[in-house]
Parts: sequence; C-alpha cells; structure tokens
Amino acid sequence: MAFPEQRFRRLRDHAVWREMVAETSLGPQHLVQPLFVKEGLKGRQPIASMPGQAQLGLEELVAESRRARGAGVPAVLLFGIPRAKDASGSSAARPDGIVQKAVRALKAELPDLAVIADVCLCEYTDHGHCGLLKEAGGRRVVDNDATLARLAEMAVTCAQAGADMVAPSDMMDGRVGAIRRALDAAGLTHVPIMSYAAKYASSFYGPFRDAAESPPQFGDRRGYQMDLRNSDEAVREAAADLEEGADIIMVKPALAYGDIIRRIKDTFRAPVAAYNVSGEYAMVEAAARAGWLARQDVIREILLSLRRAGADIIITYWATEAAGKR
Ligand code: PBG
Repeated sequence: MAFPEQRFRRLRDHAVWREMVAETSLGPQHLVQPLFVKEGLKGRQPIASMPGQAQLGLEELVAESRRARGAGVPAVLLFGIPRAKDASGSSAARPDGIVQKAVRALKAELPDLAVIADVCLCEYTDHGHCGLLKEAGGRRVVDNDATLARLAEMAVTCAQAGADMVAPSDMMDGRVGAIRRALDAAGLTHVPIMSYAAKYASSFYGPFRDAAESPPQFGDRRGYQMDLRNSDEAVREAAADLEEGADIIMVKPALAYGDIIRRIKDTFRAPVAAYNVSGEYAMVEAAARAGWLARQDVIREILLSLRRAGADIIITYWATEAAGKR
C-alpha cells in the first residue's frame, strides 16, 4: 500500500494546526508552589542549593504566596521549619506550631489561595527521620504505628488552622487511614488528602533537605520510602492509599518516574499529582547558570512531559514563574 509522503508533517508545518491538535495542555490551574516557612526568621534566607528559592519568615511567606496567586497559581504547599526539634517531633502538631501559624496567616490574608499542609515529622525530629524511633533487634528503627498518632494530630491541627488539604509525605503504612479517621472525628470531613503514595528513596531530595533542615542524622530513608527498582509496588501503594481514603495520589520524584505516573493514572483513573522535586530543579538551574541549557524552554518541556505522562497536578518550584509566563 502506498503511503502519502507527508502524513505527519502537514499538521506540523503551521503553528495554527499545531495548537489545534496539541494533545496536552499546561496552565496555572495545574500548578502548586511549595514554600518553606521558618519559625522566628525575619525576611528570607536564600537556599544555596536551590537558587531562586528561600526559607521565608511569616511576612515573606505571605508576600511570596501573594505573588504566586497573582501569577495565577491556585495553591501552595507548606513546609515548616520549627525553632526547636525533639525526638518525637512534638512541635509538628502544636496548634501554635509554625505551619499552623503560617496557614492561619495565609487564610486571613489570601482567602482564595488554597493552602496544602505537608504532613511529616522529619523537619520536626532532632534525628531527622520521618517518624518516631524505637529499638528493634539492637537497631534504631522508625516505629510505624506510634508515628501514625502524631501524624494524625498534625493533620488535624493544620486543618483546624484552615488548611484546605493535607499531604502526608512520611510513607508510614496506614497513615492515610489514620489521618482520614482523625479528620472525620474532628468534623473535618471536607478536607481532602493528597497522599505521597509512591514516594521513592531518591537522591533527588538532597537540596530539599538543606531547605527544610531535615537530613536524617543517621542511616537513610530506605526503611520507609520505596525502592527505586519497583513499579508493581507503586501500584499496590496507590491502591492501599485510595482504599484508606486518599483523594489524590502523588508520585515523587517526577522526572525519572514518568512510567510510574502513567501506570498509576491508567490503573486507577484517579487524580494524580507529580512532585517535580528539589534536585530536579537544582539540575536545571545549575545547567542554565552555566549557559548549557535554554532554561525557560527546558522548564516548559519538563512540566509538559509530566502532564503528558498523566499528572493532573504538578508540584514545582517553578510554579509561580511558569504560571506567570505560560
Ligand atoms: C519530607 C519530604 C521530603 C520532600 C518532600 N517532603 C524529603 C525527604 O523525604 O527526605 C522532598 C521534596 C523535594 O526534594 O523537593 N518527608
């Protein structure tokens, strides 16, 4: 059978047809801006490994969030850095903790900006692990079930402060169910959970741990975050979280995990978020600084690729910038 010579190129050669038939869209409505709020900080403290990002004092957090909203970003994701840390991460769940205070300030100043509270203990524990510790077989390990109560408390105090959504990133088993039950018991049935369901033990989180002052003081996170080699397990994680009441399933990191985003999307047809993490941001910023990449084009390509992979929502440090440009 004879094929016409220009089957594909006819629609590529003209910008109007390209726009008409583009399969993937990217708009500000898809973006979430992560922000770091530090207790007691006046002004902002730039993060060396994330050029363009900073730890923010409360006032700066409001200013930065206003900028995001002004650019069209509908939601921010908050990480708190407390003044004091202890073994049980007790400052994570205090009604007057830094994130809870930040949520209150944002809801008062910017009522139509949605605020998502990250729920995890690693910024609040002095050992830097995402849960409470116990001794088991002569080793210090993260105590799954003891951690659930603290996480649930944190989710409830954040939602009581006005958080519009909570996002548990700790990777304990059963946390989504524990948080859902606690929210419901507190009358917070309307607050959705965005679960970091497939969160891998990745080296791409390095710069974030500088930003959030949360590197583990011993060992690593492979006892609770997913093994890089696994994909079926991501499907089982997502299934469990949906069953426990997750509203949105997150895959993290994003760039090396397009296969996981697509697989989870195709398997569940549920809302999926991709977290374009700190190390992915840092790589592009570093290469752009060296003059090795066309920064804006690469950012657009990255964000579009995540949408094409099946992400409904993209959490990215470029959210404000990308929303403003388009
Ligand atoms: C906390 C948490 C981490 C990130 C989001 N929540 C770090 C980690 O698990 O060590 C990483 C985000 C990023 O790298 O941008 N558990």
